[in-house]
Amino acid sequence: MRSLFSLKVRPGHPDFLELPWLDSIVDWPGERFVDLPRGPSRHEVRFIVYEQGLYVIKELPSKSARQDYEMLRALETKDVAAAVAVGIVEGRHPDAGAERSAALITRYLEHTFSYQELLQGHGFGNRREQMLDAFAGLLVELHLAGCFWGDCSLANVLYRHDAEAIEPIMVDAETAVLRESLSDGQREEDLEIMTINVAGGMADIAAARDLPIDEADLTLGEDIAERYRKLWRELTETRLITPEEGFKITEKINRLNELGFDVDEVDLLPTEGGGRLRMKVKVGGRNFHSLKLHRLTGLDALERQARQVLSDLHYYQCQTGATSATGKEVAAVRWRVGVLQPMLERLRALPAVRDPIQAYCAVLHHRYLKSCESGCDVGTETAFQDWLAVGKPDYSPFPNDPDSG
Ligand SMILES: Nc1ncnc2c1ncn2[C@@H]1O[C@H](COP(=O)(O)OP(=O)(O)O)[C@@H](O)[C@H]1O
Ligand SMILES: [Mg+2]
Repeated sequence: MRSLFSLKVRPGHPDFLELPWLDSIVDWPGERFVDLPRGPSRHEVRFIVYEQGLYVIKELPSKSARQDYEMLRALETKDVAAAVAVGIVEGRHPDAGAERSAALITRYLEHTFSYQELLQGHGFGNRREQMLDAFAGLLVELHLAGCFWGDCSLANVLYRHDAEAIEPIMVDAETAVLRESLSDGQREEDLEIMTINVAGGMADIAAARDLPIDEADLTLGEDIAERYRKLWRELTETRLITPEEGFKITEKINRLNELGFDVDEVDLLPTEGGGRLRMKVKVGGRNFHSLKLHRLTGLDALERQARQVLSDLHYYQCQTGATSATGKEVAAVRWRVGVLQPMLERLRALPAVRDPIQAYCAVLHHRYLKSCESGCDVGTETAFQDWLAVGKPDYSPFPNDPDSG
């Protein structure tokens, strides 16, 4: 007799009970599945549509599935940008060690693309620097949270346009382990794995394009490791300041915010002999602005999108002369109801707009460019009309994509 599978699903999602779990996902009948672009993978992966949205099912051995599930859940509580684990199915196959003894269900990460798509056509183009910094930033973020990845690679990260930047998201956590904190040796080991994996990814791209291996950028991983080390130093260094140099604290916080990190705490400790203070900053997660925007509006936006949308609130508060705390709160409500929501409605109604918040950011950016050009503030309505006339309804991650605006 075939064994019965066990299924664990988090609330707020389908129960996935109707799926033929005892068969390999490769053999599942087609209608509900969608073919979507995806990165290279070891395991079988399928995308399935439910009323609640799109889900990803990955078939893999139990031990790996459990590790993947537990790690993604743990990273969620630490606010690290990673895929959201929804459920796990085990005991699908009588032979426990079998390749398909378990399955992991994650929420499909909307508006993301793989590094191969990013590399298509124009290569990295002007996004190259951003993408490499973002990739290094993700590894820093994981290490700060005490996570040793063990399989950091270009293919195990998905990329999402986040206002002007690129947000990297970890998708594959089956080799990851969480510790209280990581030693320098452990971090270096993870960097070494990343460097080798990235070289492999670049070699695959060269092969896919029929190029000789010499033309592959095999040193890209070392470049990323350098960016990582620089960022790590910036985030963790201890600086000496004098009591009169309080502005250096603000300076430091601003710089870290610019790098996309939130500051939890600043420690100031007297040095031996006095006269100077040791400044050490404790860095938190990377979703400071998105949390604030969510509290204010209920909207879920990416960190940089949120920063840009919130800058529109500040623009509004400034225009309406709201300076007191209460005045600002009232202005925030007026802005939400009278400016943000109606504009998002108009953007949603445009067929070419895939992500209204991203489009809102594009309008704001256009307003900024137009205002700089004309030397005075052109206002949102004029900027919006002009943006429509220019005919670039959305940013597209793929400059050559025929169905992008
Ligand atoms: N939650 C997700 N949302 C969107 N795409 C995903 C998701 N999880 C996996 N994928 C796609 O499937 C590919 C393989 O996933 P991954 O977890 O790396 O599998 P493997 O363990 O086989 O390497 C990824 O590169 C990505 O393109
Ligand atoms: Mg993978």
